[in-house]
Amino acid sequence: MGVRVTDLTEADIPGAVSAIQEAFADDPYNNWVFDKSKFNPQRNAASLGIRCRWGIRNGIFQVAKEGGSHEILGVAMWLKAQRTDQPISWHDWFEGWRLWFNQVGMNLWYGRGGLIVKRYYIWKEAQAKVQSQVWTDPRGYYFLNIMVVVPGAQGRGIGRQMMRAVTDRADAEGLPCYLESSRDEPNMRIYGRFGFRFAAELECDDNGDAIRLFAMVREPGAGPQSQPPPPN
Ligand SMILES: CC(C)(COP(=O)(O)OP(=O)(O)OC[C@H]1O[C@@H](n2cnc3c(N)ncnc32)[C@H](O)[C@@H]1OP(=O)(O)O)[C@@H](O)C(=O)NCCC(=O)NCCS
Repeated sequence: MGVRVTDLTEADIPGAVSAIQEAFADDPYNNWVFDKSKFNPQRNAASLGIRCRWGIRNGIFQVAKEGGSHEILGVAMWLKAQRTDQPISWHDWFEGWRLWFNQVGMNLWYGRGGLIVKRYYIWKEAQAKVQSQVWTDPRGYYFLNIMVVVPGAQGRGIGRQMMRAVTDRADAEGLPCYLESSRDEPNMRIYGRFGFRFAAELECDDNGDAIRLFAMVREPGAGPQSQPPPPN
């Protein structure tokens, strides 16, 4: 039986959270934004769980599973395209606050769990700067927040299958997609296969301890791209 891509459900959350934790264990962004000596996996799982519940209601959060198995092989978390020239809806405003209150509750319960708050805001600022330059289409962008395939299942086409579940929809609607990759190699090459091209670099610098993130955009209907190297 083949791999199925389905919408994330409440029952999938524990498996989705461990797939993300496994695939991101040595991710450059995670290594920078967390003090690994204080990293609390329970707090991180609670935080991802809150995000998953928000995504079930508001995003396009999907999982890949083999045949009839419940084992999660891949997770993709997309934010829907939102017009940038209109105010957000009351529903989105309420959901934003609901997410925030849940996160505050989690921080009160667990503490920061190694999260370096200053660096989180350095990243958010760099992200806002790049998006204001790169997001030129007022109809908005499908934003791929997280895509992971568990290490043992990588390279089997599961990433492509999850990607197509949303890029086909974006193509049908004539809308662009956007992502931020925390690795240049091999991820930019992989995303290039899906039609993304390098758009801008996010510079996240905490007094010389810096990481680079690579913003990529996919125009509707784009085929495989050959990637120009990001600037040094
Ligand atoms: C990036 C990731 C999601 C891709 O998923 P995947 O299931 O391994 O990818 P696929 O097998 O569907 O391959 C997709 C395409 O990339 C190519 N590819 C896969 N691995 C590659 C590699 N190491 N180098 C170059 N190209 C590669 C494949 O050939 C395929 O192209 P094609 O279909 O045109 O032949 C997965 O490898 C992953 O989870 N990595 C770790 C976590 C991460 O970095 N996530 C991204 C940050 S948000």
